[in-house]
Amino acid sequence: MDRPGGLSAIGNTPVVRLASMAGDRYAEVWVKMEAANPTGSYKDRMALAMIEAAEADGRLRPGQLVVEYTGGSTGSSLAFVCAVKGYRLRIVSSDAFAAEKIRTMRAFGAEVELIPSPEGITPALIPAMMRRAAEIAAQTGAFATDQFNNADMVEGYRRLGEELLDQLPGPPPISAFCSYVGTAGCFLGVSRALAAALPALPGLHRAVVEPAESAVLSGGPPGTHHIEGGGIGQRPPQLWPADYDEVIGVPEARAFATARQATRDEGIFSGPSTGANLAAALDIAGRLGPGHRVVTLQVDSGLKYLTGPLYS
Ligand SMILES: Cc1ncc(COP(=O)(O)O)c(C=O)c1O
Repeated sequence: MDRPGGLSAIGNTPVVRLASMAGDRYAEVWVKMEAANPTGSYKDRMALAMIEAAEADGRLRPGQLVVEYTGGSTGSSLAFVCAVKGYRLRIVSSDAFAAEKIRTMRAFGAEVELIPSPEGITPALIPAMMRRAAEIAAQTGAFATDQFNNADMVEGYRRLGEELLDQLPGPPPISAFCSYVGTAGCFLGVSRALAAALPALPGLHRAVVEPAESAVLSGGPPGTHHIEGGGIGQRPPQLWPADYDEVIGVPEARAFATARQATRDEGIFSGPSTGANLAAALDIAGRLGPGHRVVTLQVDSGLKYLTGPLYS
């Protein structure tokens, strides 16, 4: 489908294999390089999917205001898509998230409102952002993309999974897929696309990744952490236990350290959630050993985190 401007540059990202971090005793680890998307994040895929689906069925009318709560990645992608398509956008976010993301949303012309949370991503933060976005939608008649409850955004990631199936050289087939979950859209969309390739992928192991400091999917209490994009303190509404085979809790210090190591040793320059993805992928690859293949994602670019604690 022909899309205007930068929208046609979404997707078809490269995939690379870890060269040194997964040594001889590990399974292969392959990483989908989603920073290659126009705003430097896989969220471009879901923002486009949410807007196009709402246009198609009339929930979104030409020129209508759009509203969303976001840590800034979805917001940056939505701001990009709305700018090209001519929709005004109001964003509810927080100073708990990277300043780069807030500036990116504004660069694309979005109106951004921040809820202060200087201590980090607390269990109360995302619910407060959701309430404020719902209030704006009720007051203005805006179209609320409501990412956590939006089924179209999951569909937006199906292509990512299909690209992986097309791109990876065989054999071995994919043994495992892991992904840090916020909305769980990426995890669900990709794992469903991979599972649809069954029986070509017998016994695909699907692991969701969460912060050890807020390991609610593992049955732990909600807590405060600094791995942006997930660990919201409650189960994402579209993710059910049947959707995954394992939960891996990654401590934020390890997520940060792994992101830094991937930058220096592999040239994979990313943020903390990618660090969590890589740490979990290495755990699985160490368990499986040679002859297997583990797939995960570079969620976004390290450029989004340069002024924060990760690289300073
Ligand atoms: C930086 C970052 N990493 C990971 C995720 C998790 O992605 P998903 O919402 O598809 O589960 C997000 C989502 O907001 C994110 O912004």
